[in-house]
Amino acid sequence: MTFEQIKTSADFLLSKIDQKPQVGIILGTGLGGLIQEIDIKHTFNYSDIPNFPVSTVESHSGKLIFGLLGGKNVVAMQGRFHYYEGYNMQQVTLPVRVMKLLGIEKLIVSNAAGGLNPSYEISDLMVIGDHINLLPENPLTGKNLDAFGVRFPDMLEAYDKNLREKALSLAKEKNIRIHEGVYVAVSGPNLETPAEYKFLRIIGADAVGMSTIPEVIVARQMNLPTFAISVITDLCVEGKLKHVTLEEVIAAAQRAEPSLTWLMKELVK
Ligand code: HPA
Repeated sequence: MTFEQIKTSADFLLSKIDQKPQVGIILGTGLGGLIQEIDIKHTFNYSDIPNFPVSTVESHSGKLIFGLLGGKNVVAMQGRFHYYEGYNMQQVTLPVRVMKLLGIEKLIVSNAAGGLNPSYEISDLMVIGDHINLLPENPLTGKNLDAFGVRFPDMLEAYDKNLREKALSLAKEKNIRIHEGVYVAVSGPNLETPAEYKFLRIIGADAVGMSTIPEVIVARQMNLPTFAISVITDLCVEGKLKHVTLEEVIAAAQRAEPSLTWLMKELVK
């Protein structure tokens, strides 16, 4: 993907919207409910945006939504692109680059994840404090797009400290079960074997999922302060393992959704 292709997507959107977004939001599996809180001004199907990949997973509806949330202009992705769908990492992260060109100053991301930390329970929230990237490709591979940032961005604070602290204190005031932890991303689409879950715990992860890290790496390169949060949808701890279906993952995500929606809206404010 070239800078010009990315700019074409952004210019198309800029020509159709009347307020530039200040915050970008990417919503995970079963977590689209925040959209209902947005006073929607414009909706674009991904298929109508030049150079945008089209979402294929049925549980995602594939729309870019512009509107007002908590008094801020936001742009929200309803449905993200996953590596396991067959997109390359440039495609997976294109929307974040486009949002940056639209003018966003903060990025907020949610996802569904398996809980590796034995103290976690289903439908708990986990603020991502750090990550381990086990995805087989990196979105920054290839010729560096210097217009977006440096070749070798550092990752010492990939997740904005102020936003993390704010989220933790907001949630605690409301008695929402919340943790801060390390997220590890794997390619999927299969879930992990018991031996793999054990390995992921040993290397230092608290939750495992199949998304978010590519977007965060690209956001970091562009110096875009980012907040990311997981909803724990299944327990990946010896003694608590059981067969998991997508329906159960979505049901667990939806149980956490009212708290998560409230929290994200407060953060946007
Ligand atoms: N593993 C990987 N990704 C996931 C899981 C899991 O157990 N649960 C939700 N997303």
